[in-house]
Amino acid sequence: MLEQLESTYQEGLALLRDIRDSAALRDWELKYLGKKGAVTQMLRLVGTLPKEERAAFGKRVNEINEALTSAYAEREALVQQQELARDLEEGEIDVTLPGRARQVGGLHPATQTLRQFADIWAAMGFLVFRSRDVESDELNFSLLNMPPYHPARDMWDTFHTTTPGVILRTHTSPGQIHAMRQLGDNGSKPIRVILPGMVYRYEQMSARKEIQFNQVEGLAIGRHITLTDLKGTITEFLRRVFGADVRVRFRSSYFPFTEPSMEVDVRSDAVGKGGWLEVAGCGMVHPVVLQNGGYDPTQWSGFAFGFGPERITLLKHAIPDIRYFWGNDLRFLEQF
Ligand code: DAH
Repeated sequence: MLEQLESTYQEGLALLRDIRDSAALRDWELKYLGKKGAVTQMLRLVGTLPKEERAAFGKRVNEINEALTSAYAEREALVQQQELARDLEEGEIDVTLPGRARQVGGLHPATQTLRQFADIWAAMGFLVFRSRDVESDELNFSLLNMPPYHPARDMWDTFHTTTPGVILRTHTSPGQIHAMRQLGDNGSKPIRVILPGMVYRYEQMSARKEIQFNQVEGLAIGRHITLTDLKGTITEFLRRVFGADVRVRFRSSYFPFTEPSMEVDVRSDAVGKGGWLEVAGCGMVHPVVLQNGGYDPTQWSGFAFGFGPERITLLKHAIPDIRYFWGNDLRFLEQF
């Protein structure tokens, strides 16, 4: 038995040494190491041998199996190398053929702006707070100081679902209520968060209007937060986005969930020579909203803001039509 094993081994090694091409290599593998190969069959034999022979034979057949397997791998590498060299020499491989370019993905321009915003707000101590896209009428409107009869609801044309009272959020502001209730610990803790995400409006689509877009809401709640803090914080943020020489204008406005309320405009060479660009709404959080979030408005105050980052992205890249954003056209997306 052992003798036969040794001669199979020697024969296998000798044959392997003469192999010059991968077809012969494959035949050799089948013959020795394959399912029905000589070595494999010997391995199977081990279990059937009488006890006295089993240990010695088993040990040797395993050694030989390993030796042939590694000799095979070595030979295979050599043969492949030789074949490649031969193909190159015979001109079967055209090394002048241009390679196939690999497609590399990139970040959507809107995502790039969102990330830049998040980085800046993070450096100013604001956490990102994720809030849901599908909301109740109560959170989107009522708890933000707009009961069902309130005419300010007309500012947002709404997508309704087939479930009464369930809508797609028209702004990220309902996230303020979620953030206060989840992070405020019954109105006992200060908060600094931004709430980025998609909002949905029932609009006639045009080059300037989409039915969905991102907003970046912000909320700061504390003991002594004032309008000065709001103006200073937003101005600092805009300096970090547009550069130190950006001009920032606060215009008085109206939102039901803030009092007083303002709109923020910027003017900057970074977004072209045009006029003022409206970038956000903001204000001091209305006492009713603080209360709905669990805070005592006689003890706590805060400011809130809502940016429309897509406007900035459009200007930054001189994109002529907002419908490109979610059209998924590679000719557009590949430019960023
Ligand atoms: N939710 C407002 C909108 O969609 C934007 C906004 C204005 C958000 C003022 C705020 C704010 O947090 O204080 O038009």
